[in-house]
Amino acid sequence: MRKKYCIVGVGGRSDMFISAIFGDHIDVAELCGACDRSRVRMKFILDKNCEKYEHPEIPQYGDADFDTMLDTHKPDVVIVTTMDCYHHEYICRAMRKGCDVITEKPMTTDEVKCQEIIDTQKETGQHVTVTFNYRYTPIATKVKELIMTGEIGDVTSVHFEWVLNTSHGADYFRRWHREKENSGGLMVHKSTHHFDLINWWLDSTPEIVFAQGSLAFYGKENAKSRGLTYDYAHYSDDLDASKKDSFAIDILADKNLKGMYKDAEEESGYHRDRNVFGGPIDIEDNVCVQVKYENNALMSYTLNAHSPWEGYNIMFNGTKGRLEFCLKENTYVSGAEDDINLAENREKDTIVESVVPVIVLQKHFQKPVEVDYEKAVGGHGGGDVRLLKDIFKGVQDDTYGHAAGFVDGAKSILTGIAANKSMRTGMPVNVKDLVKF
Ligand SMILES: NC(=O)c1ccc[n+]([C@@H]2O[C@H](COP(=O)([O-])OP(=O)(O)OC[C@H]3O[C@@H](n4cnc5c(N)ncnc54)[C@H](O)[C@@H]3O)[C@@H](O)[C@H]2O)c1
Repeated sequence: MRKKYCIVGVGGRSDMFISAIFGDHIDVAELCGACDRSRVRMKFILDKNCEKYEHPEIPQYGDADFDTMLDTHKPDVVIVTTMDCYHHEYICRAMRKGCDVITEKPMTTDEVKCQEIIDTQKETGQHVTVTFNYRYTPIATKVKELIMTGEIGDVTSVHFEWVLNTSHGADYFRRWHREKENSGGLMVHKSTHHFDLINWWLDSTPEIVFAQGSLAFYGKENAKSRGLTYDYAHYSDDLDASKKDSFAIDILADKNLKGMYKDAEEESGYHRDRNVFGGPIDIEDNVCVQVKYENNALMSYTLNAHSPWEGYNIMFNGTKGRLEFCLKENTYVSGAEDDINLAENREKDTIVESVVPVIVLQKHFQKPVEVDYEKAVGGHGGGDVRLLKDIFKGVQDDTYGHAAGFVDGAKSILTGIAANKSMRTGMPVNVKDLVKF
């Protein structure tokens, strides 16, 4: 018998789950109902997928009818892909109705909501999976294997630099992510991926976090101080002017962006193309974080959101040697069908040529060696397709512990939540003071 799923939050990311159920996993999964605040956006995405996969229509519910959807279809699992700040509401309501949950990262955005998920999970015993696709990439798996098998001994420190470029990085400043209340800021929304990787690679838990951050590039004030004056609130308000703006996107020129966001604007009040040099923006675009882990490893981590290229540099120092690599990622505009919506004057080569990263392992008193690993294609470095297989077909062989439960989900956001608190207070934060497991 096929497992029954309902989905809540039918926006850009939901497409990956819906197409996986209608396509590769139709033998084991059935989508019984979908729910979103915006009927227009939900209909666009469902119609597109039903047409593509020749699938019958799916019952659609507004957000006020989420419980009705669960009572009517009695799903085994609810997939949560709403805006981050509402994840906890749907995770907890689904568990209380006896459903397991698959939630997009970040599991939630602050410690109070995180505690509510922990308590509800304990109370109900339901299963919560957080979809950490980066764990599944072959390069991340190889790093896990090298550390697990003791190639560099015990890891004593990590230096981790993540840069987001002026396409993908800027995109977080065009919509809801730019308000901390919605996303927890980049420390929670984006860095949850990175902090999860570190927790998983080191097999440890963050203990003490200290952070400093700034909004130094995007936003009205920064633009003014650099002599930039782009007066429109949304790029589609003034297409002629925005054509000359390298940070603009034209959501009318892309079929998906128009159908999902522009056509739903009036109904939902959701603007997908806000000016990155307009206000208000209250998240940081530059952050430095120091973390001490329970196993005594230390990490220095930085995030920058206006780099010319996107990806990361990472170095692990261990008691037997050192492991390092640099990974440059191709980026995309979330939800776009193609790259055609980009401003005319933007250089195409801000999207880097795919660079195959080289993992360098150097043991003490030995020459460095390049470590071979499986090369992959597909969304998020090949992580998406592997993750979906585990989710829908079940975890077969989990030698490396790829599958992330709610404790992993919680631990990954706690570094970012602690970083936010540290930025607010100017003090180091003990992660144990944030929530009780
Ligand atoms: N793992 C990844 O690599 C990855 C990539 C992209 C997005 N995501 C995650 O997926 C989630 C969705 O992101 P997105 O890019 O699709 O955003 P989106 O804005 O395109 O879609 C979010 C949808 O949620 C709906 N919504 C908002 N509040 C709601 C509420 N209270 N009740 C019901 N529906 C509500 C919106 O109308 C919208 O349709 C986010 O949590 C994001 O972090 C993860």
